[in-house]
Amino acid sequence: MRVLLIGATGMLGTEIKRILDPEHDVITASRKGSDVAVDLSDKASIVAMYDKVGKVGAVVSVGGAAKFAPLDALGDDDYAFSITNKLMGQVNLVRCAIGHVNEGGSVTLTSGTLAQQPMVGSAAVSIVNAGVEGFVRAAALELQGKLRVNVVSPGWVAETLASMGKDASQGIAAADVATVYKRAVDESMTGQTLLAAKT
Ligand SMILES: NC(=O)c1ccc[n+]([C@@H]2O[C@H](COP(=O)([O-])OP(=O)(O)OC[C@H]3O[C@@H](n4cnc5c(N)ncnc54)[C@H](OP(=O)(O)O)[C@@H]3O)[C@@H](O)[C@H]2O)c1
Repeated sequence: MRVLLIGATGMLGTEIKRILDPEHDVITASRKGSDVAVDLSDKASIVAMYDKVGKVGAVVSVGGAAKFAPLDALGDDDYAFSITNKLMGQVNLVRCAIGHVNEGGSVTLTSGTLAQQPMVGSAAVSIVNAGVEGFVRAAALELQGKLRVNVVSPGWVAETLASMGKDASQGIAAADVATVYKRAVDESMTGQTLLAAKT
């Protein structure tokens, strides 16, 4: 299957590509360094990416950003940035997928543990992650039979914790998170938030 992977050069994207590669034809996308350039914060760029890539069987998104900062430091521009980028970027990936993803194909988005387990500094990120999950539940209802839509919610990733100087044993390995994205591509679920966290 042709799989378009957005955020392919990142930490999780690299592992997802590794696990999909043996079975699927993975086309990579990000702002720089991939097969196709895309900026999720720019809808025209998403449309241009789909036009360039042609029909695919699945889209996986692990791209996009949101601002992590204390409540009293978050300005209007930080909220706008977060919503335009990781939230509306991923919403627009689904909206623009019609006609570019084979009927019955899938789009898999990314939220994160801060939707359900907030921490100091996560207000904007928590809005975005919870918003992506709510969108997926609703959009899947209307896309039944046309497109499967799911979201993976990673817990803290061990490699990320290590890079922050924190205890990596509290996190899930990136390779284990990648297996959850593969399930979303290969299996038949829709409208689901798939947790990928250390058990
Ligand atoms: N790592 C964790 O512990 C963790 C936990 C929970 C949730 N998550 C979520 O998982 C996702 C991926 O995390 P990660 O750690 O793999 O991040 P990462 O290493 O920073 O990688 C991000 C990827 O997204 C691309 N990207 C960033 N902004 C983009 C944009 N506007 N348009 C298109 N591509 C863009 C980057 O490439 P370019 O910069 O070249 O565009 C890169 O390929 C994020 O949504 C993150 O919030 C991560």
